[in-house]
Amino acid sequence: MFRRTDAAISPTALYTGTVWRRNGLSHPAFATLAGTALWTGLVAPRRAAALLGVPDLDALLLARHHAIDTLLEQAIDSGEISQVVELASGLSPRGWRFSSRYGSDITYVETDLPGMTRRKQDLLERAGLMGPGHRVRVLDAFEPIGPNSLDALADELDPDQGTAVITEGLINYFPLPDVTTLWNSVGAVLHRFPRGLYLSDLHLDQNPGAVTATAKVLITAFVRGDVYLHFDSEQEAIEALYEAGFDAAELLLPSSFGGRVESGVDRNHIVRATTGAR
Ligand SMILES: C[S@@+](CC[C@H](N)C(=O)[O-])C[C@H]1O[C@@H](n2cnc3c(N)ncnc32)[C@H](O)[C@@H]1O
Repeated sequence: MFRRTDAAISPTALYTGTVWRRNGLSHPAFATLAGTALWTGLVAPRRAAALLGVPDLDALLLARHHAIDTLLEQAIDSGEISQVVELASGLSPRGWRFSSRYGSDITYVETDLPGMTRRKQDLLERAGLMGPGHRVRVLDAFEPIGPNSLDALADELDPDQGTAVITEGLINYFPLPDVTTLWNSVGAVLHRFPRGLYLSDLHLDQNPGAVTATAKVLITAFVRGDVYLHFDSEQEAIEALYEAGFDAAELLLPSSFGGRVESGVDRNHIVRATTGAR
């Protein structure tokens, strides 16, 4: 879908950025006209899809975002994690929210392709929202080596601190070989720290039928690219995470994190995979 170029800023990032802002998770500085237009344009298709039984897109997004926030918060509060690298962060407000809350107790590095990174950096600087340990940096999630890789970014972090890597809204837009490359590099890099935590959302190919097919058609049209459902079961995904070098891995249901739980949110899963001492 996005491949290695982001000449056009990803419409999905503009959309999700608008959802976070409309639901009180973000700062007014994150608002984009294009995102608002996209969101407004999807109101009618979302209503029509709901009549066909398709789970509401915004409810799915909010549930996954809340689940990842909760797991990250727990890991920081327990002292396991003090460095966070968010891949493909787009217009997500998580870096700003966590940096504002934890200040210099954590390092938070937001990363994305060059166009989005520039946009995020400008937005944060103009609104005076960059905290002491908060940085924005170019990183290609599917480059295992080289200056824009996670491996290179890890050289800039403190090797003695527990470290988390987050991907949200990325995995299902790329084919399995890319996901394997990404998970292998996250698994390997996290072993460089005393504790490692990987958090992500993941859509499984678990609900065959008309509803899933309709949802896939709608999302594919929206992102103007393919959507990939790589794993048929939780077990398959967990095995792939172990193969990528994680010491423990589980898939959790978004509804188990409370918050605003609407029906259908568990069509998404939350990946929690760790390295190092438990
Ligand atoms: C659906 S948006 C998700 C943004 C954010 N994580 C959120 O949940 O709001 C997908 C993001 O992936 C980024 N992206 C696409 N290809 C990428 C790559 N190869 N490396 C890093 N980021 C990439 C896009 O620029 C975009 O910001």
